[in-house]
Amino acid sequence: MPALQMNNITKTYPGVLALDNVSFDVAKGEVHALCGENGAGKSTLMKILAGAQSMDSGDIFINDELVHITTPQKAMDLGVNIIYQEFNLVPYLNAAENIFLGREPKASVPGFIDFGKMYNEAQSVIDQLGVDLNVRMPVNQLSIAQQQMVEIGKATSRKSMIIAMDEPSATLTDHELKALFELIRSLKDKGVSIIYISHRLEEIFEIADRVTVMRDGKYVGTKAIADTDREDLIKMMVGRELTEVIPKVAAEIKGPALEVKGLTRKGVIEDINFTLHHGEVLGLAGLVGAGRTEVARAIFGADTIDAGEILLDGKPIKVKSPRDAIRQGIGLVTEDRKALGLILGMVVRENISLANLDSLTKLGFVNRREEKHISQQYIEDLMIKTPSSEQQVQNLSGGNQQKVVLAKWLFTQSKVLIFDEPTRGIDVGAKTEIYNLMNRLAATGAAIIMISSELPEILGMSDRILVMHEGRLAGELSREEATQEGIMHLATGGK
Ligand SMILES: Nc1ncnc2c1ncn2[C@@H]1O[C@H](COP(=O)(O)OP(=O)(O)OP(=O)(O)O)[C@@H](O)[C@H]1O
Ligand SMILES: [Mg+2]
Repeated sequence: MPALQMNNITKTYPGVLALDNVSFDVAKGEVHALCGENGAGKSTLMKILAGAQSMDSGDIFINDELVHITTPQKAMDLGVNIIYQEFNLVPYLNAAENIFLGREPKASVPGFIDFGKMYNEAQSVIDQLGVDLNVRMPVNQLSIAQQQMVEIGKATSRKSMIIAMDEPSATLTDHELKALFELIRSLKDKGVSIIYISHRLEEIFEIADRVTVMRDGKYVGTKAIADTDREDLIKMMVGRELTEVIPKVAAEIKGPALEVKGLTRKGVIEDINFTLHHGEVLGLAGLVGAGRTEVARAIFGADTIDAGEILLDGKPIKVKSPRDAIRQGIGLVTEDRKALGLILGMVVRENISLANLDSLTKLGFVNRREEKHISQQYIEDLMIKTPSSEQQVQNLSGGNQQKVVLAKWLFTQSKVLIFDEPTRGIDVGAKTEIYNLMNRLAATGAAIIMISSELPEILGMSDRILVMHEGRLAGELSREEATQEGIMHLATGGK
C-alpha cells in the first residue's frame, strides 16, 4: 500500500497548463526524487499536495484513503509537510518562533507560552541538523543557508508522515548536505516518506530509492535508482541527448578591472586583497559562512565597510550604495532573488530593465517598445519559460525567476559582474546556456567574479580561484593547479 498516491492531477494557470494529468506514488519510508527542467511543474505538484494551491482535477490518496487537501492546515493534520523552494519564514520572528509557529509549547498558566521549552526544543532541532545557529536570532538576520536550515527544522520537527523537500539543498554546501541526508535517513527509518526535489543529480543518486521525471507539466516516467543513470535521467528530462561538459572558452586576460585592497567589515570579512582583470573569470570558493557573499555585498555597496579601498580601472571609487555600484559599472547577480534580485509583483519586462532604465529613457520618457524588444531578446537567449514578457515574476517557476535576475544584470552591461551562485536551482540544460553567456561576456572584456558552492562549476569556469575561510582569503589557485581536494583543503582551514 503506497503512503501517497497522486492520480491524474491537472492544474492550469491563465495561459499555462502547469500540470497535465500527472500521477505518481510514494511508498512508506521511501525517498522519492522528483526531477525535471525549470517550469516542469514540480513545485506546483507539491503545492497542491500541501494545500497551498488547488487542483482543477485529480485525486489524492493517503494510505489508500481519498483525502481532500483544501488548506495547508488540512495537509498538516494529515501529516503532510513541505519545505518550500521560496522560503515561508516570518522575517521578524526568530528562528525558534518560526519553527514552532502556531504550536508553541504551552506553559502551566493558561494562555502563556513556555519560552524556555520552546528555545530548548528549537535549539535541539537545529543542532541535530549540524548547523551553528542561535535560534534566538531573527530570521531576517540569518544567511540564506541558515534560513534554509530553519525551514527544514520547521518541517521535520512536526509530526510528519510525508515530507516534501523542494530544492532543500540549493543553498547548502557539503557539510550541511551531509547533515540533511543523515536526517533524511533517520526519518526514513521511522517510516516517513520523503519527496525530494533537486537539480543536482548526484544527490538524487545518493539519497533516493526511486525517481520520477516530469517535463512540460507531464509525467514522463518513474525508475528505481538502481535501474537508471545520469545520462538516462537527463535524456528523460530534456527529451534528447545532452552532453554535460562545461564549455569554458578562455578569453584574453587584459589589464586590471577591479582592485580590492584591505577590504574589512569587522567580524565578517578581514583584510581582503585581490585584483580582477578584464576578460577574467575569478572563482570565489569556500564553505557557507566563509564570507564570500559578504565580500560581494561590500564591493557592491550593499553593506558598509570598516576599512579598505576599491579601484575600478585604476581609479579609486567610493561605493556607498548599490545605486553607486551600478552607476560605476558593477553588477551583483545575487542568490537571494527576493531581497536584492527581483520585484515579484512586477512583470518580467520591468524587472529586466529595472537596473538600467536610464539607457531606455529620453526626456523623462521610457521607451516601452524598446524595453519590450530587449526583454523579448533575453527571454529567448536564456530560454526563460513564461507566457510573455508581461507575466508577473512571482508566477514564474523558481529557476525561471533566477534567469530573470541574470537577464537584468546582463542588460546593465556592467564592466564588473559578480555572480553569486548563478546556477542555483537552474536545470542542466539551462546551466550550459549560462556558462556560454559568461564566456561571451568575458570575451567582450567584462570582468567576472563567480561565487559558487559547486566545485565542478568553479573548476570548470574559473581562470583563477580564490578560496575563503572564516572571513579571510585562505589561498589562491591557478586553473591548472586547482583540484576539488585542493580547494576543500584551503576552505576547511588547511595551509
Ligand atoms: N501562480 C502562478 N501563476 C501562473 N503560472 C504559474 C504560477 N505558478 C507556477 N506557474 C507556471 O507553472 C509552470 C510550472 O511551474 P513550477 O513552479 O511548478 O515549476 P518547477 O518544476 O518547480 O520549476 P523550477 O525547477 O524552476 O522550480 C511554469 O510554467 C510556471 O511559470
Ligand atoms: Mg520549483
